[in-house]
Amino acid sequence: MNMTPFDEAERRIWDGRAAAYARSFAGLCAHTVPALLDAAGVGPGARVLDVGTGTGAVAAAACRARAIVSAVDAEPDMTLWTAEAVPEADVRVAALPELPFVDGTFDAVLANFVLNHVGRPRAAAAELRRVTGDCGRVAVSLWGDERGAGQSLARQAVAAAGLGLPPALPPIAPEEDFPLTEEGVAALLSGAGFTGVVCETVRFEHRVDPERWWAGTAGGVGPVGALVAAQPQDVIDAVRKEFDALVQPLLGDDGLATLPHVALLASGSA
Ligand SMILES: C[S@@+](CC[C@H](N)C(=O)[O-])C[C@H]1O[C@@H](n2cnc3c(N)ncnc32)[C@H](O)[C@@H]1O
Repeated sequence: MNMTPFDEAERRIWDGRAAAYARSFAGLCAHTVPALLDAAGVGPGARVLDVGTGTGAVAAAACRARAIVSAVDAEPDMTLWTAEAVPEADVRVAALPELPFVDGTFDAVLANFVLNHVGRPRAAAAELRRVTGDCGRVAVSLWGDERGAGQSLARQAVAAAGLGLPPALPPIAPEEDFPLTEEGVAALLSGAGFTGVVCETVRFEHRVDPERWWAGTAGGVGPVGALVAAQPQDVIDAVRKEFDALVQPLLGDDGLATLPHVALLASGSA
């Protein structure tokens, strides 16, 4: 496949991160799974594709809804994890914007926090449309421009420890890019040929043990995690100290941190 520099950088970020992701940010991304399944009308017997499955939260939920589930991810480590965790699903390595399915294979196509990670978002959206059957549904979630306070915790800790910001990812070509707003995501899906597209902002509070949250960053997940994991132990310890100080005011009596998050959720029909 013809990968862009952005895609190559993404592959390096996700390479071998399944265990660290499962321990940490998978729980965060799971918040939108029920709404995504609802928006795509997933039910018994529906042919469902979970694109960018990660550690399989969407695929598992769709199987519990008695759908017939396929799942793909660009990262082999993720597909190994999901194949073991969700044995009922057909799990394969595949990367947007090229999916190994014939036109119109699925009744519901889902991508939970994946479109932020593709180098050619418009081509990716067109590919989601291609594999969606007549009368099928698409539902996607992604991080938008609006951020909740919980979304900057690791970045703030890195800055406070004097580490600077992670290197910016290579740019996405302007003709492929889209605004990370309700209107921008709706236009992305409409432009790909979906109809009746709606996109809404969803806000939620992620309650998490700070140890689990830190495990994602220390385990190298995401650009901030990759930056932290590449440091010598004394620098990692310094970031951890800043993280502990920043998370302290967010802790409840039960020891869990409350981290506000904001995401976009869009759906439409083929
Ligand atoms: C934030 S995780 C979301 C995982 C999962 N959907 C969930 O809800 O937990 C993003 C996932 O997208 C995958 N990914 C990144 N680029 C991709 C691409 N071009 N095609 C398919 N998957 C991709 C990553 O490997 C990673 O597993």
